[in-house]
Amino acid sequence: MKIAINTGGGDAPGLNAAIRAATLAALSHGWEVVGIKNGYGSLYTEEPFIPLNQDTVRGITFQGGTILGTANRGNPFEMPYQKDDGSWALEDRSDEAIDVFKKHGIDALIAIGGDGSMIIADKLTKKGIPIIGIPKTIDNDIWATDITLGFDTAVSTATEAIDKLTTTAASHQRIMVVEVMGRYAGWIALHSGLSASADIILIPEVEYTFDSILKKIEEREKRGRHHTIVVVAEGAVEKGETHFVKGKVIGQSEQLGGADQYIADKLSELTGKESRSIVLGHLQRGGTPSSYDRLISLRFGAAAVRAIDEGDTNKLIVMQQNQIKRIPIAEVANKMKLVPLDGDTIRTAREIGTCLGD
Ligand code: F6P
Repeated sequence: MKIAINTGGGDAPGLNAAIRAATLAALSHGWEVVGIKNGYGSLYTEEPFIPLNQDTVRGITFQGGTILGTANRGNPFEMPYQKDDGSWALEDRSDEAIDVFKKHGIDALIAIGGDGSMIIADKLTKKGIPIIGIPKTIDNDIWATDITLGFDTAVSTATEAIDKLTTTAASHQRIMVVEVMGRYAGWIALHSGLSASADIILIPEVEYTFDSILKKIEEREKRGRHHTIVVVAEGAVEKGETHFVKGKVIGQSEQLGGADQYIADKLSELTGKESRSIVLGHLQRGGTPSSYDRLISLRFGAAAVRAIDEGDTNKLIVMQQNQIKRIPIAEVANKMKLVPLDGDTIRTAREIGTCLGD
């Protein structure tokens, strides 16, 4: 038996723990394990695989990033190529990818990834590659799992940063707008914003208006609170508008960003107060995984090998009420787990007076 492990899309703290657990569990069955270098794009190169063994996965549980490397491009079904006239287009090179798996005798693939990776995994399973998915993204927006690896660490990083920004905002009596990651779901903004006692939290699931934000700032001013912390998810949307896009490169997801600056400028203009904005950006993806992320990543990695051993493939390993379960990848692909607006966390925010912009 020979298995391959892929880490595709944005990195997240905990990837290395998952790689280590999957490798060691597979080795204990006597299987051979390889990792795909820098994501699927390398399948079209001379040396797509890195051997994984006890030596290569030693001491990596606490390391951020991924020892395999990753890329936000390299979808075998949408590979960019340059046309004769110099323009760029996409082509389906998935058959070549399947040939590479066959040529190297890969019996099963562990795809550690987010929503994009699960869409690719679903298509590859339909072309005959047995796959087990592991849910990874700091955004925590994968359907059917309570938690994705990397989310807990990203929330802690954002919380610590907001705590620090709060003391300087208070000293200067400023409005501080902090943009956190979260393209379509506001999990990081909501969890870090609440944990750091932000006054206003703007998430993609709730359209915001400046009237609502101003009301909260005025109410604080009346109570003698002359600083305000606004946490905004990069994908948050003003009522009647669309999200801010910073850039788009062919073959990659659009890059979001700019909401922080827009909101800070507008609030300066509307309140006459000094406003500052900051983007936490990739800080949230880096660093040492929390003990919780290490543990769930190890559990996901071992569970993936267990599923392959039982011949129960084309499933995503998920966590539901702290129990590991398996859900067909086809059921998860193209779905997104958004923050439930009737959920306890949103209700908590409203009950303690946090403004959600609506
Ligand atoms: O999907 C995870 C994520 O961190 C998003 O929150 C963010 O929009 C995106 O990746 C950024 O990707 P990149 O590093 O490719 O710009």
